[in-house]
Amino acid sequence: MTNTIGSHNKFGALAFIAIMGMVFSSTAFADSGSKLPINTPKAYAQECTACHIAYPPGMLPKQSWQRIMAGLDKHYGTDASLDDATVKQLSTWLETQSGTYKRVAEVPPNDRITQSAWFIRKHKEITPSVWKLPSVKSEANCAACHSSADKGIYSDNTLKFPIGIDARSKRAWSN
Ligand code: HEC
Ligand code: HEC
Repeated sequence: MTNTIGSHNKFGALAFIAIMGMVFSSTAFADSGSKLPINTPKAYAQECTACHIAYPPGMLPKQSWQRIMAGLDKHYGTDASLDDATVKQLSTWLETQSGTYKRVAEVPPNDRITQSAWFIRKHKEITPSVWKLPSVKSEANCAACHSSADKGIYSDNTLKFPIGIDARSKRAWSN
């Protein structure tokens, strides 16, 4: 009897590995655990990091990237315009890499990673006052808490408490 269950599990594990291989084979990542693909264009690392970290393209669906790249002159209250050739290059790349972290069907409000359902779920332990700390200011300031966000790494062992966090919020976060 144990034997039957054992071989069934083994088959399940092999099938699982095969499926994961198919899902992830299309994108190679820069670093182990990094959400930034190896083929990240220089222009993305240079132009799109002037005001914030390089957001992983896999964290938004294709439609959101299309809208963001079509409206850089009115980019979340600022002007992030680029020349046409760079816009075209980055748009093509962003669209091919879209949705590889979270395969979400719906487009988040305002094309914001920080308003995606998965983002809200992953960050629900964080008390509202923490987002308002001067060291954080915005949900979009990933690097305030993810020490390797600039490298596209968001694993638990790279988390840090933002400067000024109170003891109660620390406990809520650690639960
Ligand atoms: C001139 C400054 C500037 C440049 C350059 C810039 N951005 Fe932004 N970006 C902003 C600001 C400001 C926000 C809003 C941040 C906030 O709400 O705290 C933002 C937000 C975003 C967001 C949404 C973050 C969220 O809330 O989930 C994305 C995605 C984004 N930018 C992508 C890009 C891309 C792609 C480029 C390069 C083509 C780029 N940005 C270049 C200033 C800039
Ligand atoms: C105020 C601090 C803070 C900010 C700012 C923040 N995060 Fe997080 N994030 C956390 C904490 C804490 C966790 C761990 C939650 C858990 O494990 O339950 C987390 C978890 C995550 C995870 C899940 C990691 C995993 O291994 O499951 C991802 C992905 C993530 N954050 C992405 C982002 C991105 C992208 C941004 C910016 C757009 C961001 N975070 C901004 C605190 C923050």
